[in-house]
Amino acid sequence: MAAITLTSLTKRYENRSEFALAGLSLEIRDGEFVALLGPSGCGKSTTLRLIAGLEHATEGTIHIGDREMNDVAPKDRDVAMVFQNYALYPHMSVFDNMAFALRLRCHRIEDIATRITNVASSLGIAHLLQRYPRELSGGEQQRVALGRAMVRAPSVFLFDEPLSNLDPARRKSARIELRRVQRRLGVTSVIVTHDQEEAMTMGDRVAVLSQGVLMQFAAPMELYHNPANRFVASFLGTPAMNLIEGRLIEKAGQLYLVRPGFELRLPQQDHPVLQARRDTELVVGVRAETVTTIADDLDKQAADHRAYESASVSFTLDVCEPLGSHVDLCGHVGDDIPFIARLPQSLTPRTQQNEILLTIDTTQLHYFERGEYGRNLRHLDQ
Ligand SMILES: Nc1ncnc2c1ncn2[C@@H]1O[C@H](COP(=O)(O)OP(=O)(O)OP(=O)(O)O)[C@@H](O)[C@H]1O
Ligand SMILES: [Mg+2]
Repeated sequence: MAAITLTSLTKRYENRSEFALAGLSLEIRDGEFVALLGPSGCGKSTTLRLIAGLEHATEGTIHIGDREMNDVAPKDRDVAMVFQNYALYPHMSVFDNMAFALRLRCHRIEDIATRITNVASSLGIAHLLQRYPRELSGGEQQRVALGRAMVRAPSVFLFDEPLSNLDPARRKSARIELRRVQRRLGVTSVIVTHDQEEAMTMGDRVAVLSQGVLMQFAAPMELYHNPANRFVASFLGTPAMNLIEGRLIEKAGQLYLVRPGFELRLPQQDHPVLQARRDTELVVGVRAETVTTIADDLDKQAADHRAYESASVSFTLDVCEPLGSHVDLCGHVGDDIPFIARLPQSLTPRTQQNEILLTIDTTQLHYFERGEYGRNLRHLDQ
């Protein structure tokens, strides 16, 4: 087991002008499960391949434990990697696939068999050991690939989208299983995914990347409640955070976000963060679940939250999406700004009604500078 330290890691592939990875620094603790999250092409697989030694860094260093790994061959890094496409050996049975790396390391035959049997039964693939990869479903191949990494009991596990070929139900059980096994083994692990739910539920901490640059590295709930910038805010959470760009205006001692056909009173508690931004443009973020149609409901909660404030906005409903326990009201506010409110099923509005007054819990607003990577004003304030 070992910590992984990446310091100013930079990768530029030959014949490419842009950086695949630009100065990434991350300290992954011993035994930690870290998820790398970001859109396609942001440098996730590149990061894993650099840790595994399958690519050379253009600049920067990689440490596993105390040892610098930049010039250490992949096979000597004590790292096991599970690839997006499994990379099973097609001409070998499941057992032989799992045994391959152990045989190379000259383990005793009985030990190899015991290890494989244990791992295979924990992954539910014990009955598949004599089959060949072509005789397995996508999900079964995935578990074999995981099993092959697990039998080696390496210092570090690297997973590149290991669950991407599974159907949704299997995906959930596979991620629970993977997390359970990782906890039990306590092996430092890095998983790559572009699925924010997977990253949030699996990672002790999540590193969010965009275009080869680290946006934020924090625990899932910290990312959700305190995103460093607008990119992180809109990438995490389903549905995505509502973002409303407008001008910050002061009227009679109160601050408002205004834009054509829209006005939102901002709470007193946020005045310290906002004062210096008066008469400028900014972006207010509203999570869909901090909105309700019933002002009373929020007033009741207010008894427990002294700093509580709310504000009403008129909303035009386009589509009502029932999702079982809750319903998403999809529509717009002001001059056609898309807006989604997530309400308990019991508050589903009557369908013929499409002009609705929404109440926003303004104690949970987020504020960003303009632009795709606009910084969180609360972070600037700290
Ligand atoms: N071998 C290569 N040669 C040249 N460019 C590459 C190579 N591998 C990756 N790239 C480029 O580097 C950037 C980062 O790629 P990477 O594979 O790390 O992205 P990713 O985040 O894993 O994306 P995905 O979610 O699609 O797997 C991309 O712009 C990609 O086109
Ligand atoms: Mg990738």
